[in-house]
Amino acid sequence: MSNPFNQQAPLPGIKKVIVVGSGKGGVGKSSVCINLATSLKEQGHKVGLLDADVYGPSVPRMMGAMNQKPPISEDGKIIPITRYGIKLMSMGFLVEENQAIIWRGPMLFKAIDQFFKDVEWGELDYLLIDLPPGTGDVCLTIAQKVPVDGAIIVCTPQNIALVDASKAVDMFKKINIPILGVVENMSSFTPPGSTESIELFPRGQIDKYIEVHGLNKLTQVPFDPHIGACAETGIPLMQGKPECEAVNSFKSLSEQVVQQTV
Ligand SMILES: Nc1ncnc2c1ncn2[C@@H]1O[C@H](COP(=O)(O)OP(=O)(O)OP(=O)(O)O)[C@@H](O)[C@H]1O
Ligand SMILES: [Mg+2]
Repeated sequence: MSNPFNQQAPLPGIKKVIVVGSGKGGVGKSSVCINLATSLKEQGHKVGLLDADVYGPSVPRMMGAMNQKPPISEDGKIIPITRYGIKLMSMGFLVEENQAIIWRGPMLFKAIDQFFKDVEWGELDYLLIDLPPGTGDVCLTIAQKVPVDGAIIVCTPQNIALVDASKAVDMFKKINIPILGVVENMSSFTPPGSTESIELFPRGQIDKYIEVHGLNKLTQVPFDPHIGACAETGIPLMQGKPECEAVNSFKSLSEQVVQQTV
C-alpha cells in the first residue's frame, strides 16, 4: 500500500511549520496562535499564520482583518493579508463570515492544498497553523502535504478537555509530528483588585498526564478578560501588551518554541 505521507513536500521559503491543535473546541487554540504569532514577530522572526479552521475561521476577526479580500498576483497566486507584520490566510477571507461551508473530503483536501501551493507566502521563519477542533481530516491532510516541525496542544485544566487533548496527542504521535508541548489555557483567574487566584475549572489530571506521557508544559495562560476583549477588537494581546501575567505567558511560550525548533 502506498504511504500517503510520501506526498509530503517541503514548502519553499518556509523554515518551520508549527500546528496548534487541541482536540476539544473552544479551549483557546486561535487565541494562542495569534498571540504566539505576534510574539514571534516581535522577536524579529518572519511569521505567517494559516487559519486552517475552514468551518469556523476566527483569525480574520481576531487579527482585525475582517472583510478583506486577498489580492491575486499577476502569476495567479493569492497574496496573504498582512496585519501587525504577520502574513495571514484564512477561509474567512474567501467566504462571507455568516456563510456556512458545506464540504466533503475532496474539496477540503483541495482547499488545504491551495493554502500551501497557491498562496504567496514568501520567505518565512515560522508558518503557524491554527487547526480546527478535533482530530479529523484537516489535520491529517496537512500532515500528508507538508512536513510539520512541531505541534502545540492547547488544553484547559479540567479532565473533560484533557480527554480530547489526549486524542490529539495520540494522533500527532501516530502521524510522526513531534509534540513541542502543552499550553494550559485559562489555568486560573485573579479577580481585579485581588491577589488571590481562583480555579475556574476543577483541576483534573493534566499534570499527571503530561508527566506520564513525557510531554512538556510550555506555559500556563491565566483566564484574562483582556484576551476576550482582544478577540473582539482585533488587536492581539501581544500587540497591545497591557501589563498582565498573560503577556508573560505568551512571551515565554514563544521563547520556548524558538528554542525547541532551532
Ligand atoms: N486565557 C483566556 N482568558 C480569557 N478568555 C480566553 C482565554 N483564552 C481564550 N479565551 C476566549 O475564549 C473563547 C474561545 O477561544 P478561541 O476561539 O481562541 O478557542 P478555539 O480553541 O480556537 O475555539 P474553536 O475550537 O472554536 O476554534 C474566545 O472568546 C476567547 O477570547
Ligand atoms: Mg479557533
